Amino acid sequence: MLNVIVTGGSRGLGLAIASTLAAGGYRVITIARTESAQLRTAAAAIEPEHPGALHFRAFDLTNTAAIAALVGDLRKEFGPLYGLVNNAGLGTAGVLTMMRDEQIESLVRLNTISPIILSKYVLRSMMVERAGRIVNISSIVASTGYSALSAYAATKASLIGFTRSLAREVGQLGITVNAIAPGFVDTEMTQALSGGQREQIIRRSALRRMIDVDDIAASVEFLLSKNARNITGITLTVDAGNTA
Ligand SMILES: NC(=O)c1ccc[n+]([C@@H]2O[C@H](COP(=O)([O-])OP(=O)(O)OC[C@H]3O[C@@H](n4cnc5c(N)ncnc54)[C@H](OP(=O)(O)O)[C@@H]3O)[C@@H](O)[C@H]2O)c1
Repeated sequence: MLNVIVTGGSRGLGLAIASTLAAGGYRVITIARTESAQLRTAAAAIEPEHPGALHFRAFDLTNTAAIAALVGDLRKEFGPLYGLVNNAGLGTAGVLTMMRDEQIESLVRLNTISPIILSKYVLRSMMVERAGRIVNISSIVASTGYSALSAYAATKASLIGFTRSLAREVGQLGITVNAIAPGFVDTEMTQALSGGQREQIIRRSALRRMIDVDDIAASVEFLLSKNARNITGITLTVDAGNTA
């Protein structure tokens, strides 16, 4: 079984990605600070048909100094790492002039610094195998304006720059690096959206609907598959035509 790390798999997009990949034949190691009841239920449902396909590691990804040791431990326990899905993220909203400096620093630490450092150590395993797939979960907010999300948008745009340059750096080793830019999805992160905002998103989307977590999971599964072997350095927008 090919090993794939999915960060932020305890709920929302990450849970759907981890479950889809585990049911699709990968061995998934998902990382979050707390193992949720939803993740335990998903793992139990997958276990009979795919034994040992979904694992959990409790880890705070803002503890970047400990990431090297975490990756070393995972390699020892599970073997070579084929995939990395950098999904964990904070969605702190706020008018910039009113945000606390610590809130801005926390956003950058989890959404930008942590995936870059995690990629660095996981890549060392992929380089030995001369194969691997990295998928970074960005957002449509990286390229469209959205009031009260400027600091968040900066972190999501940084992942797109990271994706393009890293794809050039590791392509010759048989490793692909891509990003996905989801539109708005109903998760804990977007709980603060009002009914009116949801309706506006739907009205402004070409397909007149919102996407759901399974749309993103399916796109990640595609980018990890053989069919995507010649795709690297791209940002795949999945937003029901919200930015079309
Ligand atoms: N929802 C949307 O509309 C939307 C749209 C575009 C892009 N995105 C992106 O998609 C990704 C997932 O979003 P979501 O809506 O699924 O978010 P979510 O429901 O808030 O889930 C976030 C996940 O990240 C984990 N996490 C948070 N802080 C962590 C830390 N310090 N260390 C380790 N794990 C941590 C959480 O687990 P713990 O709290 O247990 O640690 C949880 O599993 C994010 O990168 C987000 O920017 C979301």
